[in-house]
Amino acid sequence: MKNNLFVIFGATGNLTYKKLLPALYRLMDQNLISSATKIICIGRKNFTTKSYIEDALTQVKEEINWSVFKKSLFYYQMDIESMPDYIALKTFIENNCQMYTDNSIFYLATAPGLFPIIARGISEGNLVSKEDLKGRVVFEKPFGEDLDSAKKYNQMVRDYFDENQIYRIDHYLGKEMIQNILVVRFSNKIFEDIWNNKGIKSVTILAKETGGVMNRGGYYDGSGALKDMVQNHLMQMLSLIAMEPPEDFDTDDIRQRKVQVIQKLKANFNAENLLVGQYKGYKKEKGVDPDSKTETFVFLKAEIDTERWKGVPFYILTGKQLDEKKSEIIIEFLENSHSHKKWPKDSIQSNRLIIRVDPEDGITFQINTKIPGLSSDVKPVVLDYCHGCQAIGNLPEAYEKLLLDIVLGDTTLFPRWDEIEHSWQFIDQVKAYLGDTTPIEYTNFEELRKKVIK
Ligand code: BG6
Repeated sequence: MKNNLFVIFGATGNLTYKKLLPALYRLMDQNLISSATKIICIGRKNFTTKSYIEDALTQVKEEINWSVFKKSLFYYQMDIESMPDYIALKTFIENNCQMYTDNSIFYLATAPGLFPIIARGISEGNLVSKEDLKGRVVFEKPFGEDLDSAKKYNQMVRDYFDENQIYRIDHYLGKEMIQNILVVRFSNKIFEDIWNNKGIKSVTILAKETGGVMNRGGYYDGSGALKDMVQNHLMQMLSLIAMEPPEDFDTDDIRQRKVQVIQKLKANFNAENLLVGQYKGYKKEKGVDPDSKTETFVFLKAEIDTERWKGVPFYILTGKQLDEKKSEIIIEFLENSHSHKKWPKDSIQSNRLIIRVDPEDGITFQINTKIPGLSSDVKPVVLDYCHGCQAIGNLPEAYEKLLLDIVLGDTTLFPRWDEIEHSWQFIDQVKAYLGDTTPIEYTNFEELRKKVIK
């Protein structure tokens, strides 16, 4: 097993404490990556390695054997906008982790606006070189702030690194049930044949959260639900659900089919098809503009302009401070038009396949069945599959899976540039339609539900 070096920019941020450090610890603990892995945590704050670990101890909620894990950690303070600091970082790495430099992974867990400067520093500081293909660079989502900035960032990043060294991360792709979508769709004949507008009535993709923006107001206010969730996580779910069957199922084939879906995404915007909301109290959150018009809730209806999907609505819904924490995909099938001749229309419901992504990974399938006993009445029932219950031990966290794939050099679960590009194209259209719209204020999901479900 190789010795890996992880260098994390944005190491005092939420993502590092909540996701990256716990995921790296678990990978090391399970011997999936070398237990001798080194992690250099980079930040502006005036920490020493010792005081950083003390801070991490209070921030990281997962169970970690710190007496072991701390041996892997370094804190390195630098100004990420200063090029000489990258040269000094290289010297620090050579002095402390020389034997690791062939397998180094630079993770940019920062706001996207900092990607160009950090990428430049990594390249000019000779920390990762395009020539020898050693080293990988990971960009946290969202990649860009809109289409123009994403294109600009991508161009810069491509000047510095080879495409094979670039990993644009979307942690939803590391979730078990998202990885399961292709299996469910393409290994089950019963679904494959009706996975189109002749069999499917509607598709709903939702990611509801109960929490607010917490301490991320500064970032979130410049982003909002459309850029924070729809452009990446929900678009990725949609493309896996709607893509044409891949021929070879190899990485590029799958990515190609996904991008074809995003390219064909269309929306006929009007007040019924697009609704944005903002939770009450959002404007008082730390880091948020008191006059902010940033949306913390989005509902939109889109269509995919292909033979397969013509006429099928795709509903997308996401937001913060809603009634429950839940991410799922609901496939509603068309009713059997003959069934009501025999059974009362309102007793038969359309079949539904629900892919439950979070918090309980699994699949629900709703069918109609006879009520037990002498009656011949019919009612809908659900067949439930609990994915997590079948796992030996805990299911891996999304970041665990993706960090391991980066170490292994497997790019399948990372969006390709053109997927990101076309997602931004769509989001820019939504933003252009919304213009200066003031989102409706909400205190709970019920108020929104009435508006989005007619
Ligand atoms: C992140 C967003 O990408 O996903 C957050 O930036 C959001 O705002 C989070 O809370 C949701 O992820 P999950 O895995 O909890 O559904």
